[in-house]
Amino acid sequence: MQHEPDTLPRPATLDEVKGWFHNIDQVLFDWFLSRQRERGQQGDLLELGVYLGKSAVFMGQYLEDGQAFTVCDLFDSPASDTANDKEMNKSYSTLTRAAFEANYQAFHDELPRVVQGPSHVITSLVEPDSCRFVHVDASHLYEHVHGDIAAARELLGEDGIVVLDDFRAEHCPGVAAATWGAVATTGLKPLCITATKFYGTWGSFEPVRGELGAMLAGRDDFWHGAEEVAGHSMIRIDGRRARVPAQPTSRYVAEAEAAPAATPAPAPSKASPKRRLKSLLGR
Ligand SMILES: C[S@@+](CC[C@H](N)C(=O)[O-])C[C@H]1O[C@@H](n2cnc3c(N)ncnc32)[C@H](O)[C@@H]1O
Repeated sequence: MQHEPDTLPRPATLDEVKGWFHNIDQVLFDWFLSRQRERGQQGDLLELGVYLGKSAVFMGQYLEDGQAFTVCDLFDSPASDTANDKEMNKSYSTLTRAAFEANYQAFHDELPRVVQGPSHVITSLVEPDSCRFVHVDASHLYEHVHGDIAAARELLGEDGIVVLDDFRAEHCPGVAAATWGAVATTGLKPLCITATKFYGTWGSFEPVRGELGAMLAGRDDFWHGAEEVAGHSMIRIDGRRARVPAQPTSRYVAEAEAAPAATPAPAPSKASPKRRLKSLLGR
């Protein structure tokens, strides 16, 4: 699916943006980003690996005046090593930057700052300690994720939150190795995990962990339990039944609602071909 300018996507809902961003992770992104806003926590947003923009569109809702949102993706540029190139050709061969931008602009007036290139350039473009929330979802190969986690650590300010995608999937063991390696060796504190994402901080743990536990205890649409990991009480969440939080509004929603309902196709006739022919001939 290469997108020509006149066939760019016009999503009426976030559901129509292709990507990977489960309800439970939307609930948690909403909770962490809203908590930061309520506390007046300053800092920018960063996403490494945007694909067609599903999680970026969602994150863009939490941008405050004077804050920056930077996204970084190779899009259709070549990767800097063969393994990453192979990964790109296998999983994201039809991706274009224009399609991402069209999706994003369906929901937001202004694009984020878009860095088209390998995620390892990010520390030369974003100020150290300037971010409050970093979503790491670019290459799923060990060397890249290891570097992206180190970048997140450098770019996050005090009490910033890092989210690591696909930290336990069978098809990308390098993400698991990089994630738990960071917990074991860099002081990354695990706050919670869902089926696909790890949430952690290098900042203070107890206050955010306590409030997260209280929020989860008030929800009846998913299971959670705590487990001691590397000296921290980490929360495991089974969010398969999680309800979606409030969704961003698309500029195309009115268009979709105004479109005339498609005329239903006539029901197929149950008559035999011979009887149908007779009725057509009026016999
Ligand atoms: C799993 S997708 C991101 C999904 C997205 N966050 C969403 O919500 O749907 C991974 C993205 O990382 C990008 N990518 C792969 N290797 C990269 C690298 N070395 N640097 C930057 N982006 C990369 C791919 O082009 C792809 O768009």
